[in-house]
Amino acid sequence: RIASLVRAGTPLAEWPAEYFCVDDNIRRRGALLGDDFVPGAALQVAMARGRQGWLEEIRISGLRGRGGAGFTTAVKWMACRDAPGADKVVVCNADEGEPGTFKDRVLLASQAERVFEGMTLAAWATGARQGLLYLRGEYRYLLKHLRAVLALRRAAGLLGARILGEAGFDFDIDIHLGAGAYVCGEETALLESLEGKRGTPRIRPPFPVTHGYLGRPTVVNNVETLAKTTLIALQGGTAFAATGTPQSTGTKLLSISGDCAYPGVYEYPFGVTIEHVLEDCGAHDPQVVQVGGASGVTIAGHEFHRRIAFEDVPTAGAFMVFDGRRDPFEMARNFVHFFAHESCGFCTPCRVGTALLKGYMDKLASGKGAKMDLADIEWLDRLLKNASHCGLGSSAPNPVIDTLVKFRPAYERRLVSLDFKPAFDLDAALE
Ligand code: NAI
Repeated sequence: RIASLVRAGTPLAEWPAEYFCVDDNIRRRGALLGDDFVPGAALQVAMARGRQGWLEEIRISGLRGRGGAGFTTAVKWMACRDAPGADKVVVCNADEGEPGTFKDRVLLASQAERVFEGMTLAAWATGARQGLLYLRGEYRYLLKHLRAVLALRRAAGLLGARILGEAGFDFDIDIHLGAGAYVCGEETALLESLEGKRGTPRIRPPFPVTHGYLGRPTVVNNVETLAKTTLIALQGGTAFAATGTPQSTGTKLLSISGDCAYPGVYEYPFGVTIEHVLEDCGAHDPQVVQVGGASGVTIAGHEFHRRIAFEDVPTAGAFMVFDGRRDPFEMARNFVHFFAHESCGFCTPCRVGTALLKGYMDKLASGKGAKMDLADIEWLDRLLKNASHCGLGSSAPNPVIDTLVKFRPAYERRLVSLDFKPAFDLDAALE
């Protein structure tokens, strides 16, 4: 129904209240989306600073990637700028596939101008002339809207040749639609897909900054990372770095879902505690929070004092609340089914390992598991982490291992009972 509202072009103000709350939360609580953004304003400021000055501002801001890994944006942009080759590319990774993550969707729906301006700011820093936005297949309904925003930007001289009249600053953006594969969110699988090939992750290094789209130096950034650069242009790097923690500057968008009264997208300075977020979103009796989605960290009650930050609990955005009615084992089993389904099948450890993991979890669920199976799961965890070709395989066992360590009784009570009656009762015979 949300898709049909967007397709029909229904203004946000006319959306039914239950849908509006997603964007409403972001407006009330967020800095990134709270103000009215004037297209071109951030670009003008950055261009006035010059390419080097603008990169320096990004460096001062301490901005780190919001896709989950938290790599320093300035280092990535500088590496791309310095890579040999004049045909550089900026790619926006909008293949938001992590279960429980939907903040990029909200950004694209309500702040596309910021995202495209962020891509243009990246082009200004790196000298790129081509931009590509890789849109998750399931977000196809946003395509019309995004293309309309691009057309407006072209008409306003914010895309195309001689941007804002600057000789030698030529940059334009195309949108490429994914087809529903989770692995294509991995940046090199995404690049393969952009090139029209099957989305199989490449071996890194070399990193995309030197060998990316069609072998050209490429910056791949998450939607939120790019949107944040507009804030840095307008407020300055120092002001941006004043919020958050020293290692994780600025704010983070969280996609909050699950057993809470007010799900939606919230924006917090890095360093916010999990219990603070739980209180805000109206979570009663939270038992587990899955931060970072299926591939993230399972946080148990005694850890709710921990902080959302790259140095403590990092997340691409997912914040899934599970209350006392939920079974952590079943949560992990569900995630393992997801990974087994989404494994691209290219490398054996992931293809076979995720299927085996799923098999063990199903065996335990049916009450036929043995103690040995728990040891095998721990062994599979090590194998997947060490031998997988990409992050999908290495993070697939995370929810299982986390719940096995933190909620072991949920596993042990599923083990087959060994209280069988022997045919010969030794005790009785001795009596
Ligand atoms: P990574 O740490 O290997 O790389 C992060 C970024 O830094 C990449 O763009 C990479 O090219 C760049 N980079 C790393 N070392 C570099 C170097 N020496 N020179 C130049 N660039 C360099 O992490 P990866 O595998 O790209 O992503 C894993 C993360 O993705 C996890 O933290 C996970 O949470 C997250 N994730 C996010 C999803 C989402 O929907 N947003 C879905 C699944 C996972």
